Amino acid sequence: MITPHDATLINGYAESDERDSLIEEAKSYPKILINNRQLSDAHMIAQGAFSPLRGFMGHEDYTSVVKDMHLADGQAWPLPITLSVNSHQAAPLKEGDPITLTLNGEDPVAILTLHGKYRRDKEEEAGKVYRTTDEKHPGVANLYNDEDVVLGGELKVLQEKPDLESGCDPYYLTPFQTREVMTNFGWSTMVGFQTRNPVHRAHEYIQKCALESVDGMLLHPLVGETKADDIQASVRMQCYKVLLDNYYPSDRVLLSVLPAFMRYAGPREAIFHALVRKNYGCTHFIVGRDHAGVGNYYGPYDAQHIFQDFEAGELGITPLFFENSFFCNNCKGMATEKTCPHPADDRVSLSGTQVREMLSKGQNPPEEFTRPEVANVLMQSL
Ligand code: ADX
Repeated sequence: MITPHDATLINGYAESDERDSLIEEAKSYPKILINNRQLSDAHMIAQGAFSPLRGFMGHEDYTSVVKDMHLADGQAWPLPITLSVNSHQAAPLKEGDPITLTLNGEDPVAILTLHGKYRRDKEEEAGKVYRTTDEKHPGVANLYNDEDVVLGGELKVLQEKPDLESGCDPYYLTPFQTREVMTNFGWSTMVGFQTRNPVHRAHEYIQKCALESVDGMLLHPLVGETKADDIQASVRMQCYKVLLDNYYPSDRVLLSVLPAFMRYAGPREAIFHALVRKNYGCTHFIVGRDHAGVGNYYGPYDAQHIFQDFEAGELGITPLFFENSFFCNNCKGMATEKTCPHPADDRVSLSGTQVREMLSKGQNPPEEFTRPEVANVLMQSL
């Protein structure tokens, strides 16, 4: 079994026998209002998915990650995981203080033991992490809307698990649990697949190419916050369910959910997605065309090139790279530039926007692009 990033999986949840008393204690601590993205990060940390992080990053880790994609102790880590707060709320807080994090101003969801406060340079962070300072980029927009002061510290989460849409909740598994399932299946290799979109034939093609050479696949749609025009997570899960029921062997795929939010950080997010999936037990990770990209901010293969910035073996997970995949009318099958000699106008390839437009006009996308079972789920969801 592959070792997690930095050898151990973190467990930052309060034990069930201490939870009630910690919640009572937390009511007397200073309170900080957090948002859903910050709560999502807290759960990712607590369940071990962000191991070796035990809490929100302090200044040293933050600076090192932004500049150099490594934590202060030298381990690879590409994205800042930060808790921004209002400067008035932060002013009275002192190092060592326990602080209660709450979504609604009343109910404690986590306790942060404060290790330090700092200000961040948002423009520098945007330029380095997102490769753009354009406020139209959704990740940059979130960063610019965040408060200026950042709190670093270790976390104890008081909820048992994240609150997920009802269509996603049955698929929730922690990294400890996916590793257990992997053992039960007898897989020694497992490829991770990240997605935030309804599944189409290109996804299926690259997954099945990968399945030819590994034991199993963790099909791991991201179900935290995405852009408003991305399709709702529970609908995407139904799409996966019908696809798996009809087209995949049941003992080769584990369908679960990643309760993280999208950053749309392209290349850096690809590294992040890979390291996080390693914590879930994956030995391999699929990176296709424009992974975690948005608009035209990244080149189609930037998210693959960035893997060269790390030393061989440093990430501890093997990326599997795929070219842009499409259905070729001449080959009568799925292909890429690497395998198909025919002209581009003989290929079926649609953007998400085109698919949404077709569905809204009551037209099913072509079978070469989306399996009919999946198209029906999408149509019914409108
Ligand atoms: S992502 O934001 O989660 O990357 P999406 O769900 O569209 O978006 O993609 C999931 C994975 O499939 C990513 O690794 C992406 O690069 C890959 N991918 C999506 N479409 C294609 C395609 N047509 N050809 C090759 N890879 C693709």
